[in-house]
Amino acid sequence: MSKTTAAITAVGSYVPDFVMTNKILETLVDTNDEWITTRTGIKERRILKGEGLGTSYLAIKAAEQLLEKRKLDPKEIELIIVATATPDMMVAATAAYVASEIGATNAFAYDLQAACSSFLYGMSTAASYIESGRYKKVLLIGADKMSSIIDYTDRTTCIIFGDGAGAALFEPNNEGLGLQDEYLRSDGVGRNFLKMDAGGSLLPASEETVKNRQHFIYQDGKSVFKFAVTNMADSAAKIMERNNLSHNDVSWLVPHQANKRIIDATSNRMGLDDSKVMMNIQRYGNTTSATLPLLLSDYESQLKKGDNLVFAAFGGGFTWGSIYLKWAYNS
Ligand SMILES: CC(C)(COP(=O)(O)OP(=O)(O)OC[C@H]1O[C@@H](n2cnc3c(N)ncnc32)[C@H](O)[C@@H]1OP(=O)(O)O)[C@@H](O)C(=O)NCCC(=O)NCCS
Repeated sequence: MSKTTAAITAVGSYVPDFVMTNKILETLVDTNDEWITTRTGIKERRILKGEGLGTSYLAIKAAEQLLEKRKLDPKEIELIIVATATPDMMVAATAAYVASEIGATNAFAYDLQAACSSFLYGMSTAASYIESGRYKKVLLIGADKMSSIIDYTDRTTCIIFGDGAGAALFEPNNEGLGLQDEYLRSDGVGRNFLKMDAGGSLLPASEETVKNRQHFIYQDGKSVFKFAVTNMADSAAKIMERNNLSHNDVSWLVPHQANKRIIDATSNRMGLDDSKVMMNIQRYGNTTSATLPLLLSDYESQLKKGDNLVFAAFGGGFTWGSIYLKWAYNS
């Protein structure tokens, strides 16, 4: 009997309408389009406007697009995982709300948080549920409203992040397609380089923390950059090596969109031509948990059954890794 693997069988995505261009950022902080473009590759990002709209709004829209495209009855979904660093609330799981709102009344649902590696780790989690044989339809959604934790007076972070969401359905496959291998790592030494200081159990919210702007994301960009370049490239190279994949065998690199220079370093290390590198950072910036599924959604029409995809991500914590997946369908 052939082994059951976990394949992605549908994708969906959503980005909000409001486009925050580099020109708009020039009016908020001391920066310019040329600096942002050459240092990061970002031209614009999407921002969710409107009272009372949180990450769940983005996640629901992405899930609804997937359901509509696949003509899938939400009642068939058994598990929903929302990968996010910006849940609607600290305690109530955003995923539970998303499940109810999309009509997935037979599913259980929870959130998964590993900063910018949330979706990558979530792929491992979703695939494991399928491979175990216990569940047949797992919906993984990567969604982040990064604008809710960005200080728009801090030019070192506000130029990078944007809002968005993407969703991927995992189902069993008996043709050997889907997730093939993973190399996932973490190192707590990184937590001082990229973090949001307050609002957690270590430093609960207070008048002081608000005054000190500690509810916004902080990063030591230079250090994060160095760790990200090394580790994303190393893990992608490792996945290729232990699966005997040459650059000719890799159809696509699906890299976390944090900085174009980090993506270029990873693809160079893999020996890949630019035409095999998925990229949309210029339009969306870094959407944290949403970068990987947003890429899948944008590139879906170019993907062919059997294509070898190498995912690579790096995020706060530090967390990072790489996943090798065979694409399972022609759209
Ligand atoms: C943030 C980042 C783009 C900064 O680029 P960099 O090349 O490292 O730039 P530096 O931090 O060394 O700053 C260089 C100069 O530009 C300035 N600068 C920083 N942000 C600027 C901005 N938005 N506009 C103009 N100048 C800026 C700095 O103040 C510094 O000036 P100085 O030399 O006078 O001190 C880059 O470090 C990065 O992408 N880091 C990784 C971020 C990341 O991936 N985060 C998420 C991980 S998932």
